Amino acid sequence: MDIPSRIVLRRPDDWHVHLRDGAMLEAVLPSTARLFARAIVMPNLRPPVTTTKAAVAYRERILAALPPGLSFTPLMTAYLTDSTDPQDLKQGFEAGVFTAVKLYPANATTNSAAGVRELDAITPVLETMQAIDLPLLIHGEVTDPEVDVFDREAVFIERHLVPLRRRFPSLRVVLEHITTEQAVDYVRAAHQSGEQTLAATITPHHLHLNRNAMFEGGLRTDFYCLPVVKRERHRRALVAAATGGEPCFFLGTDSAPHPRSAKETSCGCAGIFNAAHALESYAAIFEQQGALDRLEGFASEHGPRFYRLPLNSETVTLVRQPQVVPQSLTLSDRRADALDAAEAPRLFHAGETLAWRVAVDG
Ligand code: DOR
Ligand code: ZN
Repeated sequence: MDIPSRIVLRRPDDWHVHLRDGAMLEAVLPSTARLFARAIVMPNLRPPVTTTKAAVAYRERILAALPPGLSFTPLMTAYLTDSTDPQDLKQGFEAGVFTAVKLYPANATTNSAAGVRELDAITPVLETMQAIDLPLLIHGEVTDPEVDVFDREAVFIERHLVPLRRRFPSLRVVLEHITTEQAVDYVRAAHQSGEQTLAATITPHHLHLNRNAMFEGGLRTDFYCLPVVKRERHRRALVAAATGGEPCFFLGTDSAPHPRSAKETSCGCAGIFNAAHALESYAAIFEQQGALDRLEGFASEHGPRFYRLPLNSETVTLVRQPQVVPQSLTLSDRRADALDAAEAPRLFHAGETLAWRVAVDG
């Protein structure tokens, strides 16, 4: 297939991102907002965003940090705990505050200590969500220390997701940042059997990296994220899912910035900051697969259709113009005041050359 020199796409959305708060929010928000029209914003702040009131306040902080001239809509999520009040979720949903609700199994990942300990404890919440059609977003990993870290997603599907979806057959669920062929197979099988209640997001890093990459030439803390990257076989299954045109798979970067000192230490945080070159990163994979014609579906159409939101009407252009990715996020003057330059997050693909460059059309 001939490779075009430019591709015009409907403006994409990011269906899973960590925008953080305070100085880090100021630093990273422009990367997301210059490209994506909307984003599902993760609630794992400290303290987590567990109520409508907290989500309204967080949304205001995001909008206040938005550079002038950028149009961007943050779509807010509630962080589920064992004591979430279903009435508050319902009110938040009806008031247009919540787009979805996030389930972190307690201690599965960054700032998830207040997450759900026992799925049975949240039955009334799930009943309410199913009744009002409020989607559940799942970090799908078991926390059982007996289970090998590379198996935690597959075991979660078997142990928890299958029974949960049987109990709540019309609850809409997004299995977030999938990393295994078991997840691909499970989501695809549900879709092929006509169920429209299950979808999955796929990150750029899980499309590019296998677990060897984490140890190439030394321990690569930049490539540590959760769920952890897996064997090559799994990466290939994810690439096939993302580029195959199936509507149950869509874009969610899981861009998760941490200050440099929190990544490069003896007990480093999980998370990869990929927002600055996210579309270029996905485009590299779609190009390798000869599937650039399917990028728009994955990036801009499947997500809104699942969430039952309108498709964006603006466009963005990808130009085939190589760029070398800098080592870390460059802070504008205003943001440099807030975040120490030495703490600016390292960029995914740092030092590599990406073939595409985004030009935003408006
Ligand atoms: O790598 C990750 N980072 N995975 C998560 O689930 C959380 C995220 C974060 O908040 O840093
Ligand atoms: Zn995440």
